[in-house]
Amino acid sequence: MAMTPGRRAGVWVALCHSLLAAALVCSKNHANDLVDMINKNRTALKLPALNDSPGIGCMALQYIELCKGNCTNNVPHCNVTEDDFTEIFAPNCGVELPTFGTLTGQIVGCHSKYLEPSLAFSQVLVKDNTSLSLLRNKSHTEVGVGLVRAHKGPSFWCVLFSSDHANSTFVLEDRGIGIQQKKGCFSGSSNPCSGGPKRTATLMSTLAVALYCLCILLFHM
Ligand SMILES: *[C@@H]1O[C@H](CO)[C@@H](O)[C@H](O)[C@H]1NC(C)=O
Ligand SMILES: *[C@@H]1O[C@H](CO)[C@@H](O)[C@H](O)[C@H]1NC(C)=O
Ligand SMILES: *[C@@H]1O[C@H](CO)[C@@H](O)[C@H](O)[C@H]1NC(C)=O
Ligand SMILES: *[C@@H]1O[C@H](CO)[C@@H](O)[C@H](O)[C@H]1NC(C)=O
Ligand SMILES: *[C@@H]1O[C@H](CO)[C@@H](O)[C@H](O)[C@H]1NC(C)=O
Ligand SMILES: *[C@@H]1O[C@H](CO)[C@@H](O)[C@H](O)[C@H]1NC(C)=O
Repeated sequence: MAMTPGRRAGVWVALCHSLLAAALVCSKNHANDLVDMINKNRTALKLPALNDSPGIGCMALQYIELCKGNCTNNVPHCNVTEDDFTEIFAPNCGVELPTFGTLTGQIVGCHSKYLEPSLAFSQVLVKDNTSLSLLRNKSHTEVGVGLVRAHKGPSFWCVLFSSDHANSTFVLEDRGIGIQQKKGCFSGSSNPCSGGPKRTATLMSTLAVALYCLCILLFHM
């Protein structure tokens, strides 16, 4: 049965839209989505939502960048010591050292390929009681998420919690403007996630919109 012109137009527009959506997904910051999920899980139990701290998020990204190699059973191999937080992560992020607080929990996870935030949450990060009780700890006040997705390789996630007085710890110099974010992304930041330099991600989203316009234009010709 032949399609009516109206129906064909609908299919075409839907096609253009899914093209745009697919291209834009490449430049979204899924670290922020994970913080939303953590908070939804808490508020469903009437626990207070955690403050989304860019300072903690940036350090979570630094942390997960030191996790490499094979990902077995969602457990990454991370070469991180206690001192790295104050000696490497905080300076890299521009966390003002006098505001460096106490981190009271961490969850790291990985998967052989990239997973959407909801799957990363339920299948990697919060799949057992230990991580669930960490997430639901009443004394936590702040959270930050960092993630790195390797092109065609495994993806890594890190969640850090703090129980400090929210908003006065892990403060970023110049509100985080100078952070060098080479890859991945972290929560509390509007920078999109990328496998490469930030410029690549911006280029990708510009390209996506251009492609979409072209798609719509072709239809009207
Ligand atoms: C990763 O796994 C493969 C196959 O199991 C193995 O050959 C390789 O040595 C592993 N690499 C590391 C860094 O553990
Ligand atoms: C771990 O990191 C230290 C430096 O921080 C480095 O000297 C060491 O070789 C690393 N180990 C592995 C297994 O990558
Ligand atoms: C919650 O976290 C605090 C540290 O911030 C810890 O002392 C306490 O034992 C945790 N509570 C539970 C129920 O795990
Ligand atoms: C919170 O997360 C746990 C673990 O993934 C899940 O079993 C539970 O259904 C979630 N609760 C809500 C309200 O989303
Ligand atoms: C996790 O906790 C729930 C309720 O607190 C319990 O029913 C369940 O058996 C626990 N699961 C494991 C694997 O310990
Ligand atoms: C921290 O700052 C955020 C955003 O500015 C705000 O929504 C939140 O209420 C603050 N939390 C505290 C405990 O001051």
